[in-house]
Amino acid sequence: MPSHKQTLFCLAPLVLGLVGCAAEQFPQSTLHPRSDFAWAIQDLFVGIFWWAVVVFLLVEGLLLFTLFRFRARAGAGDPRPQHGHTLLEIGWTAAPALILVFIAVPTIRTIFRTAGRASEDAVQVRVIAHQWWWEFRYPDLGITTANELHLQVGRPVALEMTSADVIHSFWAPALGGKRDLIQGRTTRLAFTPDSIGSYRGQCAEFCGSSHANMGLRVVVESEARFAGWVAREQGLALPPLPGTLEERGREAYARSACVACHAVRGLSSGTLGPDLTHVGSRAAIAAGLFENTHANVARWIENAPALKPGSLMPHMALTPDDRDAIAVYLRSLK
Ligand code: CUA
Repeated sequence: MPSHKQTLFCLAPLVLGLVGCAAEQFPQSTLHPRSDFAWAIQDLFVGIFWWAVVVFLLVEGLLLFTLFRFRARAGAGDPRPQHGHTLLEIGWTAAPALILVFIAVPTIRTIFRTAGRASEDAVQVRVIAHQWWWEFRYPDLGITTANELHLQVGRPVALEMTSADVIHSFWAPALGGKRDLIQGRTTRLAFTPDSIGSYRGQCAEFCGSSHANMGLRVVVESEARFAGWVAREQGLALPPLPGTLEERGREAYARSACVACHAVRGLSSGTLGPDLTHVGSRAAIAAGLFENTHANVARWIENAPALKPGSLMPHMALTPDDRDAIAVYLRSLK
């Protein structure tokens, strides 16, 4: 049998590894609230946690007291059983009911507070969930993008959400609770991010083979940076210079099947897949699955279903030259 020391020795790297992961990127955790909505949930959680601590101490305390006080002793007879003690019965019925009231009132208050409409100056975003990626449209700003939601710190956002196919659920834990996206219906989520940063999110409703690969990123920026992002998104990406690999990629893209599903404003207008007008400026591709590097984009163009099960983007029959040129072109779209 391994000694305690050996067990500790084996566990230490695992624990350190987990701690390391948590420290490296912003944790996808509800315990690091970064919006008013997330703080409301956090306050609720902490309140209920302390109620649970009180109940735990009370129950375990009574249990220990009973075990000790009524333990078997040499020479002592059997203890006298209690039958029908009205006061005790009222007590242990009323106490849990009262505790549930203490939990229910703030919970219901929070539900109503967070399901309300956002203020007039909120950034309006239409969120459309697809198997397996997120479409973000800013109707007032004339922007369509995918998988990366940009917001301004301190400014409320109103998400108006629906689905193009099955039920999905929007969840960026640091910014608030989950909300389902349902085809033919509109659900709402409103919150105000309070800290600049990049926050991971995830679809939280099983929606098919790549449900676990349906990630998203919320980028919360200063007012100036957000305005800069808006201005860039509203314009077109700079056209490639003549004779460059980017230009060859642009030509290859224009005659490929890509254009049937993807939009690059000014060049193609497909709507089945993510809008690629500024895809080069996103940190990740394939709904947060891979970093936006040349190798990953090329692999993705080559055979998406091999990298993301169920991906609607088919295995493309491209020559390696075309594939690489298209990857270079797409990454230049900033
Ligand atoms: Cu979309 Cu799970």
